[in-house]
Amino acid sequence: MLENKLPGKGTNIFTVMSKMSQDHGAINLAQGFPDFDGPLALRERVTWHIANGHNQYAPLAGVPELREQIAVKVLDLYGCKIDPDREVAVTPGATEAIFCAITAVVHPGDEVIVFDPCYDTYEPGVTLNGGVTKHIAMQYPGFTIDWQRVRDTITDRTRLIILNTPHNPTGSLWGEEDIQQLREVIADRNILIVSDEVYEHITFDCRQHLSLLRYPDLAARTFAISSFGKTYHTTGWRVGYCIAPPALMEAFLRIHQFINFSTQAPMQYALADFLRDCPQHHHELGGFYQQKRDLFCELMAPSRFSLIPSIGTYFQLADYSGISDEADTEFAARLTREYKVAAIPVSVFYDKEPKQHVVRFCFAKHDDTLREASARLCKL
Ligand SMILES: Cc1ncc(COP(=O)(O)O)c(C=O)c1O
Repeated sequence: MLENKLPGKGTNIFTVMSKMSQDHGAINLAQGFPDFDGPLALRERVTWHIANGHNQYAPLAGVPELREQIAVKVLDLYGCKIDPDREVAVTPGATEAIFCAITAVVHPGDEVIVFDPCYDTYEPGVTLNGGVTKHIAMQYPGFTIDWQRVRDTITDRTRLIILNTPHNPTGSLWGEEDIQQLREVIADRNILIVSDEVYEHITFDCRQHLSLLRYPDLAARTFAISSFGKTYHTTGWRVGYCIAPPALMEAFLRIHQFINFSTQAPMQYALADFLRDCPQHHHELGGFYQQKRDLFCELMAPSRFSLIPSIGTYFQLADYSGISDEADTEFAARLTREYKVAAIPVSVFYDKEPKQHVVRFCFAKHDDTLREASARLCKL
């Protein structure tokens, strides 16, 4: 028998709910991916690069053209000047970048702070490196961070804080007050940060994404991670990236070279072309998804769900306590079976089962998909 290196972690909830959705012929609002394709011009560039000889190993850190365009983008958006040769790595999805960043810095016994509900790849990365994950639940229903609890949780062993803004699954964003609090709690301590910013372009209602790259003192300790899959509706291409100061990036690449060595080449060339030629795509992404959020909320207004405001990402939380007091895993399974709409039970993002009754819907879907799904949900 093999000893399980990740006790308590079974098949992840996205796989479970997507399979259940398929088995029951349901509309899949569970897993976070669009049911539409990315821009045609971008897809055509991939085909072009495949036809024109970009089919061998890309360099370890990513193709120079793409690293250059990433540097242009973060200067434009966040006023952050980075060296594309020493401070960027392109990775097979943000998932690999998160794992490499954690592995680069967490040693056995190190403590890592995460905020629940938290994305499911953080803790396994910490555990596999012998670290200890310290979970701090965000405050319901605004999903704000209790900074006093953060202060109380920090010890001499705290090595890393992993944050995520815009936040999956809650749709909440960090504000300036959070940035200031973070700055204070890590002052004079040897604590690094993984800033998961994969939804960086998806914010609503004129709210700005506060990338840690905007703050030179914080950027100096941060692995900032993003995902082209989220930005270009191409989650299946598996391309993301990490930005970090040279010393952190060196440690990062030491790990990355032994996990994947490099990231698929034709996609990287295509993304470089598209970033250069169509920066308006990422500028307009928030507006694109805001329309979908507004449509979904309007369609769901007559339902007995109570929607929790989402100001970023493509997720909408819904409190179903007016409908049922079932556990969220049971409720989500019943939704899929009986009403043919799949959702994610939010308790799976927590270390300690939360009291609230909430499920997550993904609204990165065609308007017609959202219309049909909400019509079914309004029958509950
Ligand atoms: C918060 C968060 N981080 C990271 C990822 C992983 O991104 P990628 O698909 O680029 O690996 C996701 C994907 O759902 C996510 O929601």
